[in-house]
Amino acid sequence: MTEEMKAEFDTVASWTADAALALGPDHFLAAGCRGSGSPGALRWLLDRLDVAPGDLLLDAGAGVGGPAAFAAAEAGVRPLLSEPEAGACRAARRLFDLPVVQAASALPFADASVDAVWSLGVLCTVPDQPRFVAELRRVLRPGGRLGLLVFVATGALPEQPAGNDFPTRPRLDHLLREAGLTVHDSGSAADFPATPAGWQDRADAVDAELERRHGDDEAWRTAEAQSAVIGRLLAAGDLVGTLVVAGR
Ligand SMILES: C[S@@+](CC[C@H](N)C(=O)[O-])C[C@H]1O[C@@H](n2cnc3c(N)ncnc32)[C@H](O)[C@@H]1O
Repeated sequence: MTEEMKAEFDTVASWTADAALALGPDHFLAAGCRGSGSPGALRWLLDRLDVAPGDLLLDAGAGVGGPAAFAAAEAGVRPLLSEPEAGACRAARRLFDLPVVQAASALPFADASVDAVWSLGVLCTVPDQPRFVAELRRVLRPGGRLGLLVFVATGALPEQPAGNDFPTRPRLDHLLREAGLTVHDSGSAADFPATPAGWQDRADAVDAELERRHGDDEAWRTAEAQSAVIGRLLAAGDLVGTLVVAGR
C-alpha cells in the first residue's frame, strides 16, 4: 500500500473515529461512510442483495464501518467486517462495535460461509484484483449475491491518484466473469438521490472537526490531496461510481 493510501485508510480512519466520538453518536454513520456511497446508493445495493434479517453480510475492505452499520440498521443483517488497516479496524470497533477481522485480499473465512458480500470503493485500491474478486466469490454461499461500488475509468486518466488502479467497465465485467460471477444489475452512483441534508451536514461537521484537529498534519493533507484528485476525476466524468450486483 502506498504512503498516500496508508495516510487515508489507517491514520485518517483512526482520527475519524476520534472526531465522530467528540461530536456524538448522531455523527457516527455519516463519519463512517465518508469513504463510500451515499445512503441512496447503499439502499439500492441492499435492496438487490436479497438479504433477510439475520443474514451474514461480509463487508470486505470495510474502512471505518459506516456502510456495514447502515446495512444492519436498514436490513437487520449481521455484518462481518474485513479490513487490512489497523486504524480503520479499531475505528469500526469504537464507533459501531462490529466484529472486524484484520485481513486484506486473503480472507480468513471458510468457503460458502456468508450469505452476501459487499465491497465498496475497494477494488481500485487492490493490487491483485482477480485474486480479490475470486476470494469474494469463494466465501459467498451458492445463490448469494455480491454488491460492489467500483470507480470505473471511462478512458485514459488525465491525472492518477497514487496507488489506485481503476478498471474500465469491460475489464470489470471480465474480472467478474473470470471469477464465475454473473452480473444481475448495475447502476451509476450519480443517478441516486443526493445525500439528504441532515446527513451531509453531519459529514461536513466531521470534516470540519478533522480539519480543525489535523489540518496541519502531513497525513491529513496527503489524504485530502488524494480525495481531491478522485473528486476531480469523478466531476469530469473520467471516473464513474458504478454499482454492480452479481451472483454465483
Ligand atoms: C476507499 S476506502 C472504502 C472503505 C469502505 N468500504 C467505505 O465504503 O467506506 C478503501 C478501503 O479498502 C481497503 N483495502 C485496501 N486494500 C485492500 C485489500 N487488498 N483487501 C481489502 N481491503 C483493502 C482500505 O484499507 C480501505 O479501508
